[in-house]
Amino acid sequence: MIELAPSILSADFARLGAEAQSAVEGGATVLHVDVMDGRFVPNITIGPPVVASLRKVLKVPLDCHLMIDRPDDLIPAFAEAGAAWISVHQEACVHLDRTLHLIAAHGCKPGVVINPATPVHVLDEVLPLVHHVLVMSVNPGFGGQTFIHSSLKKIELLSKIRDSRRLGFRIEVDGGIHHETVADVVRAGAEILVAGSAIFEHGEPGANARLLLKFALNAAEQPIQGLSSAVAGGVTGDGGNSLSLP
Ligand code: DX5
Ligand code: ZN
Repeated sequence: MIELAPSILSADFARLGAEAQSAVEGGATVLHVDVMDGRFVPNITIGPPVVASLRKVLKVPLDCHLMIDRPDDLIPAFAEAGAAWISVHQEACVHLDRTLHLIAAHGCKPGVVINPATPVHVLDEVLPLVHHVLVMSVNPGFGGQTFIHSSLKKIELLSKIRDSRRLGFRIEVDGGIHHETVADVVRAGAEILVAGSAIFEHGEPGANARLLLKFALNAAEQPIQGLSSAVAGGVTGDGGNSLSLP
């Protein structure tokens, strides 16, 4: 099932509840919360109090993407605040198996994230433990970056591994997802689509969500015919702000 998970990183934080609600009314069924610590990534964002506030006004699961060092220290606080899904970076976890079990022990769905430079095979041992694998299609830290096309091969590989090993994890993609890139990630096998600037930077979040979902669902119904012309020609998006129909 294709699901849209808007990233609130690009929302107007002064109007966070209303903007998130608008995205949900536009069809988003998950809300993606980017947590940055200024160490693992060169940016600082939000912590458990914001998650707790969103939890009070939203019914959809809050998908907390921890871009932080030593995530074990904060997993209990995010769980307590109301996170439904918590994902940690493979690159940040020395004892990844332990960290994923810690997330599950706090009643949340565990996810693992890999950066663009990290190969899929490092996840071999933990794939049976996770609810979702998040493939970063930009280097984490900022919204509005250009989609990295090599992530498509990783999504396809994960999908094949899931079939061959009969596993149940879901495949999520994050970074540079907008009207020019969404069809390719869906055809590659991504099911949970994180989009920040494409939803929140211009126009109304609900309308943007509806349109991006429409592109995604159309792509899901079409057979895979290789990469789209945008990818084949090496043309990249502009950060995902325009959602007008082509
Ligand atoms: C990047 C974050 C992403 C980001 C996506 O570190 O993990 O969730 O907000 O933003 P866009 O969709 O603008 O690339
Ligand atoms: Zn994210």
